[in-house]
Amino acid sequence: MNPVDFKIRQGKLEGAFPHFFPLVPGWDVAGVVEQTGPAVTGLSEGDEVVAYCRKDFVGEGTYAELVSVKANQAAPKPAALSFEEAAALPLAGLTAFQALHEKLEIKEGETVLIHAASGGVGRFAVQLARLAGAHVIGTASAANHEALRELGAAELIDYSEQDVVKAVRASHPGGVDAVLDLVGGEALERSPEVLGDGGRVASVSQPAEKVRYLFVRPDSGQLAHLGSLADSGELKVSLAETLALEEAARAHELLESGGVSGKIALSIAG
Ligand SMILES: NC(=O)c1ccc[n+]([C@@H]2O[C@H](COP(=O)([O-])OP(=O)(O)OC[C@H]3O[C@@H](n4cnc5c(N)ncnc54)[C@H](OP(=O)(O)O)[C@@H]3O)[C@@H](O)[C@H]2O)c1
Repeated sequence: MNPVDFKIRQGKLEGAFPHFFPLVPGWDVAGVVEQTGPAVTGLSEGDEVVAYCRKDFVGEGTYAELVSVKANQAAPKPAALSFEEAAALPLAGLTAFQALHEKLEIKEGETVLIHAASGGVGRFAVQLARLAGAHVIGTASAANHEALRELGAAELIDYSEQDVVKAVRASHPGGVDAVLDLVGGEALERSPEVLGDGGRVASVSQPAEKVRYLFVRPDSGQLAHLGSLADSGELKVSLAETLALEEAARAHELLESGGVSGKIALSIAG
């Protein structure tokens, strides 16, 4: 599950995609290939795959037993992960990867501030920034600091207790190289205040002036790369909760409350 699922339920993406009812939500999936189309190569019945399979319309989502997925959006399911863990990887992992490497063009030795480091996207971003050789500062509630240190964050700021800009400026008087905003609002508005010379800001929250906005796109090559990092143990999936498909409504309430730290997966029995 991803926050976009409840945003779609609330009607917030109606301007971006045509919606068809009855509407099945869900953009991420891990499963077994049941059947392939006539032009598909490289995938066969029985293959275990994972996909961020957003379509050009909203309606035929992944809260389902059977899902149609474009072959060029699927990648091998990482063998080291359960189906539930693997399903938590695509959208959030690709968002972190594309934000850091395509929008921020993060380089070894740079310092990056990640707003909402403990969220589904943030936890992947912390690890991928660290793997790229960056010095990572994360904002998160204090209860999540230990887990984020283990994932590779060098500095952590409790956004509910501290002024984030002041805290960053105190430890980095010359400013940081990059900010990844996963929150929006004030966090995004004040991001330029922590930048040093040549600093850049990327956001997935909302387009804004001088901000490199990302709307994540499916990319099976990048997804396969993330899967290989998961298999080698370099990229951990923080699965907070797994609920049955029948509990999807409760899962939406949980995700929407913001009280879950990490990802939520829906599991289909059988
Ligand atoms: N444009 C795109 O392509 C794209 C792609 C992916 C996600 N998104 C959007 O990006 C946002 C994050 O997604 P996600 O999956 O990571 O969400 P998530 O897992 O629900 O993130 C929840 C986390 O946000 C943290 N948080 C809330 N307010 C904060 C603040 N003011 N400062 C710092 N952290 C704060 C909380 O951390 P604590 O528990 O530590 O307090 C919470 O754990 C969502 O709005 C989502 O829709 C957009």
